[in-house]
Amino acid sequence: DTYDFGLVGLGVMGRNFILNVADNGFTAYGNDLDQEKVNALIEEGGDPSKVNATTEVSDFVNALSTPRKIMLLVPAGKVVDIVIESLLPHLDKGDIIIDGGNSFFTDTDRREGYLQEKGINFFGAGVSGGAKGARKGPSIMPGGSREAYQYVKPIFEAVSAKYKGEPCVAYLGPKSAGNYVKMVHNGIEYGLMQLTSEIYDLLKKAGGLTNEELHQTYAAWNSGRLQSFLVEITSEIFAQKDDLGDGHLVDKILDKAKQKGTGKWTSQNAMDLGIPVPTIDIAVSMREISALKAERIKADELYGRPKPESVVKDTLVSLSEKALYFSFIMTYAQGMHQLADASKEYGYELQLGEIAKIWRAGCIIRAALLADITEAFQADGNLQNLLLSPSFVSKVQETVSAARELVSYGATNGIPLPGLSNALTYFDAYTSGRLPLNLIQAQRDYFGSHTYERLDQEGIFHTEWED
Ligand code: 6PG
Repeated sequence: DTYDFGLVGLGVMGRNFILNVADNGFTAYGNDLDQEKVNALIEEGGDPSKVNATTEVSDFVNALSTPRKIMLLVPAGKVVDIVIESLLPHLDKGDIIIDGGNSFFTDTDRREGYLQEKGINFFGAGVSGGAKGARKGPSIMPGGSREAYQYVKPIFEAVSAKYKGEPCVAYLGPKSAGNYVKMVHNGIEYGLMQLTSEIYDLLKKAGGLTNEELHQTYAAWNSGRLQSFLVEITSEIFAQKDDLGDGHLVDKILDKAKQKGTGKWTSQNAMDLGIPVPTIDIAVSMREISALKAERIKADELYGRPKPESVVKDTLVSLSEKALYFSFIMTYAQGMHQLADASKEYGYELQLGEIAKIWRAGCIIRAALLADITEAFQADGNLQNLLLSPSFVSKVQETVSAARELVSYGATNGIPLPGLSNALTYFDAYTSGRLPLNLIQAQRDYFGSHTYERLDQEGIFHTEWED
């Protein structure tokens, strides 16, 4: 027997992915050190000629048809290297290893170089959509050798989510292109999550909306232009009753957000590239602030805060819908801008239209907006920033004043709206033909002779500033 596809790491994601592969008519073989996980897959797989598994690496590798296609769904970091080393002695030249985890992109480049010397093709393929996505159709973001992609393409296209029949997977570029795109996907994910949370805070504190009303509000938004996976699940979260006590679960959950690093990496790398992604940055900072729960409680007692002036519910809901739409646009714009620049810096040759396209279904940041973003980047392959697309001007103009109103309300009433205010500041700064940073240049030249350029003449200038 030879199987079409191998998968190492039979946790929830791995098990679901392999069952998805089998549902689509490919035979699949799993591998995990844990005998229980192996047994669970064999049981769930039903017919062992279609889905099988083993704890033995050599049996696993030998069961696969060549060139072998072996996907790893194991935790990012050292484990990936350990698994690669365990596979290597059993592989043949031309075999393919696909890392489906959230590996840091420079690790992927290192692994790709190392494996290339041994004649093994390596893909870093971001997989988004959580456990359900893995089972029913994720968005897959592969990067690696273009020639080797032909072997994984039929399987990935079959198992991926479909948007109007089109698969949510595409070859994205060489080396770590796939992991890089997934990293920025997660940065955008952090931004959208922060925005949906702070709008919830506002609706609750300023509008007095109950969980039931929040549930209805997000559900209504989800059937309009804000339609997205995150808005949809947010609506469902407000409906969930607490199974350990009275009331709604959301009110019982500790307000400390954890993170595994991908959002932070997005921000860090954006800084390295020199591309501003302030809504993503602040989303990372807010998870950090949230972690300081004990300090926040002390400070809350020390400073207190204004009692929010109440706002008519309908007005607030309508302003919030617009502000959320506006700030979602800003978040995608920042992420896409980062991708455009990273593509040049790292030689990925990314097609931004293709990326937006494979994000339209399956992944965590899927949203109706991505259809418009896809069109904008398909219409202009060299578009530097979404905000420069003529198709986005009216969408932004129509919603920006709501963002202004809510940001000023939040500032006056002590409700933190960091994502929204950063999105607005980003917009105001990016669309300012003239910023006051001429003064910074003057200051730099004043105290450090750092020189400056002029608006009216070419060249580099320095002035002996008068004390
Ligand atoms: C996805 C997600 C996923 C990520 C989680 C957790 O696209 O399915 O991005 O890959 O691991 O969202 O991320 P944090 O633990 O950092 O919030």
